[in-house]
Amino acid sequence: MKFPFTSPRLATFAAVGLFALVNLAASAAAPVKIGFLVKQPEEPWFQLEWKFADQAAKELGFTLIKTGATDGEKVLAAIDNLAANGAQGFIICTPDTHLGPGIAAKAKAANLKLLSVDDQFVGADGKPMAKIHHLGISAGKIGESVGATLAAEMKKRGWSAADTAVCAVTFDELATAKERTDGATSALLAAGFAKEKIFKAPQRTSDIPGAFDAVNILLTQKSSVKHWLVCGMNDSAVLGAVRALEGRGFGPDTAIGVGINGTDCIVEFEKSKPTSFYGSMLLSAKQHGYQTAEMMFKWIKDGVEPPLDSRTIGVLITRDNFRQVLKEQGITK
Ligand code: GLA
Repeated sequence: MKFPFTSPRLATFAAVGLFALVNLAASAAAPVKIGFLVKQPEEPWFQLEWKFADQAAKELGFTLIKTGATDGEKVLAAIDNLAANGAQGFIICTPDTHLGPGIAAKAKAANLKLLSVDDQFVGADGKPMAKIHHLGISAGKIGESVGATLAAEMKKRGWSAADTAVCAVTFDELATAKERTDGATSALLAAGFAKEKIFKAPQRTSDIPGAFDAVNILLTQKSSVKHWLVCGMNDSAVLGAVRALEGRGFGPDTAIGVGINGTDCIVEFEKSKPTSFYGSMLLSAKQHGYQTAEMMFKWIKDGVEPPLDSRTIGVLITRDNFRQVLKEQGITK
């Protein structure tokens, strides 16, 4: 007599249990999808970050959704798209660090984990958003190495202080860029270079044309300088400067440029004749691409929270050693 009463109950329990089990299995097996947004997809640096993130996706088994997010609108649309596609998190080098609070709020609302790479978000108070997980470079230190290299090369060439000036291609609205050029100029000052011979060429855009235009203006103003030492936030900044210098007749015997990235100057180093682009601080695109993707993957899959702030280093490459170093780092074959 009890059966007619208990069996529907049992059936309900069984159904609920089965539903829970199916649900659990579905969430455990939910495929991991990670977004990777970059501000300048045309720059070799960002293409390499993507390449290494792709490698992580293949090796660890997740889907990578890459988006070139060149302005704020594209960033917001990309986040919507990630949420609609069932992604659980994303890595971003934002086109504007002041978008940080908006991006963080949108990611939170869409329940997406967030990791910034390269350019750290800036809060409404103008300070870095230290609570957003970030991986960037040790910008000041790397800049100092640029300055020290320029000072050493000037000395090697026996250029006099009276004839030599520094052209710092600056992009001060971006903190990591300012730290780099400030680091370079402080190392030059420490090496005894005169402060009044250090000139800034502010870029309006952080690309080769932006640097080319900025340096052309400076060269017009300072036409009596015989030797130039050039630093900038990255390879593009120094390449733009080198092209402007060439337009005024400066070459490797009269100008020295040292970039940062080491990935956007490979074509320059491969030229049969040396140019005044002497060297670059090679950064680790693998750490910025593979490691950030791996951090995000483990955060989503195993709940392992990445460190809040990671910093990577750079090593000097020149025409003499770039092939070997790039091969060692898996950038070229
Ligand atoms: C910035 C620059 C890039 C590269 C990265 C490295 O985003 O724009 O060219 O130097 O930093 O972190």
